[in-house]
Amino acid sequence: MHEPKAIRPDVFWIGVNDRETDLFEGVWPLPRGVSYNSYLICDEKVVLVDTVKDKSAVSYIRKIKELAGGRNVDYLVVNHMEPDHSGAIRQVRDEFPGVTIVGNAKTAKYLADFYGITDGIQVITDGETLCTGRHTLQFFLVPMVHWPETMVTYDQTDKILFSMDAFGGFGALDGGIFDDEVDIEYYEEEALRYFSNIVGKYSAMVQNAIAKLKGLEIRAIAPTHGPVWRKNPGKIVELYDRWSRHVAEPGVVLVYGSMYGNTERMMEAVARGITEAGCPTVRIHNVSRSHVSYIIRDAWRYKALVIGAPTYDTGIYPPMNHLLNLLESKKLKNRVAGLFGTFLWSGGGVKGMQEVIQKLGWDQVQPVIEARGAPTAEDLKNCMNLGRAVVARVRETCPG
Ligand SMILES: Cc1cc2nc3c(=O)[nH]c(=O)nc-3n(C[C@H](O)[C@H](O)[C@H](O)COP(=O)(O)O)c2cc1C
Ligand SMILES: [Fe+2]
Ligand SMILES: [Fe+2]
Repeated sequence: MHEPKAIRPDVFWIGVNDRETDLFEGVWPLPRGVSYNSYLICDEKVVLVDTVKDKSAVSYIRKIKELAGGRNVDYLVVNHMEPDHSGAIRQVRDEFPGVTIVGNAKTAKYLADFYGITDGIQVITDGETLCTGRHTLQFFLVPMVHWPETMVTYDQTDKILFSMDAFGGFGALDGGIFDDEVDIEYYEEEALRYFSNIVGKYSAMVQNAIAKLKGLEIRAIAPTHGPVWRKNPGKIVELYDRWSRHVAEPGVVLVYGSMYGNTERMMEAVARGITEAGCPTVRIHNVSRSHVSYIIRDAWRYKALVIGAPTYDTGIYPPMNHLLNLLESKKLKNRVAGLFGTFLWSGGGVKGMQEVIQKLGWDQVQPVIEARGAPTAEDLKNCMNLGRAVVARVRETCPG
């Protein structure tokens, strides 16, 4: 028997922890694992809210059966169709025949596209309610929080917001599932990494969702990843609000690439300049060694991003190019930028990086230092000046 994790006497967390998958979506590292949260409401009708990834379906179905005590599941609410949550839908339909799947028009389309499911679906519209006995559930469409069909379910009776991936984070739930029973700072860090890696590109839609849900009285937020927020649900809303407005903390992220040490020496001089200007918060990443997931997280957190890399095959150094492509795609805004690099013959690396900074509309600080071969003493002095200038601009624009 699994220990039931009750949010309310008749509302249960029935998620699963994944400590095996190395890369979420095949891209983002999971050193601390991840949870796929699903919820069961044992009312006059038995209601499931979202499911889990298909590889955990067997233990998941067992949990539902234990808690439902022989009753059939009447409704499965599908807030989000990404397979980390929809993966067990087929098994749920096989085990609980007659279950009605509740979703919006786009959910219905994706149920057909992914699983060939075209019947037993109740299509709801924005704001519609469903009474299940003691509980009344209300559905709010929040499109493009990061997929087209995304919606949230609000339990009007117990004031619980089932928020799907919004307000979620990486990190398996290590025993506790509630914000008041875990080391919450540990999870906040992983929530920022999740937000910046997965949801950040859709910040405008997150802002729309927050505005839409503003009037609701919320006693608990139950997302599909990470802790359930019952002590302080306002905290994770506040964090997602800040992150989706691109609000930064004072600090400098210094990202460099280097094959033979020339650009690295320039980076050390920039770092020294930053420290001499009195900014203790410097996060240095070797772009060839730090996974982009962590660099993007830090870039989302701190005000300044200083980048430096050699020219490679007439253009941007490949690992730096990978990072910059992602930052451009994620449209990180309102950052202070610094730039340096190296070349030997006709260059191209600094020019390429410069174009990306311009496309992102970042506030670029001078000087830009481009060393031929090895940096000269003058180049290194300028690198220190770049570090100082970046800190001065952070102070002007990001009173922390
Ligand atoms: C594989 C490779 C490709 C390069 N491609 C170019 C290039 O296209 N244009 C150029 O001006 N320099 C090019 N360079 C020269 C480097 O940019 C230069 O040697 C620089 O000092 C390397 O900095 P690092 O010591 O930080 O790696 C290339 C160097 C290597 C090893
Ligand atoms: Fe998702
Ligand atoms: Fe998810």
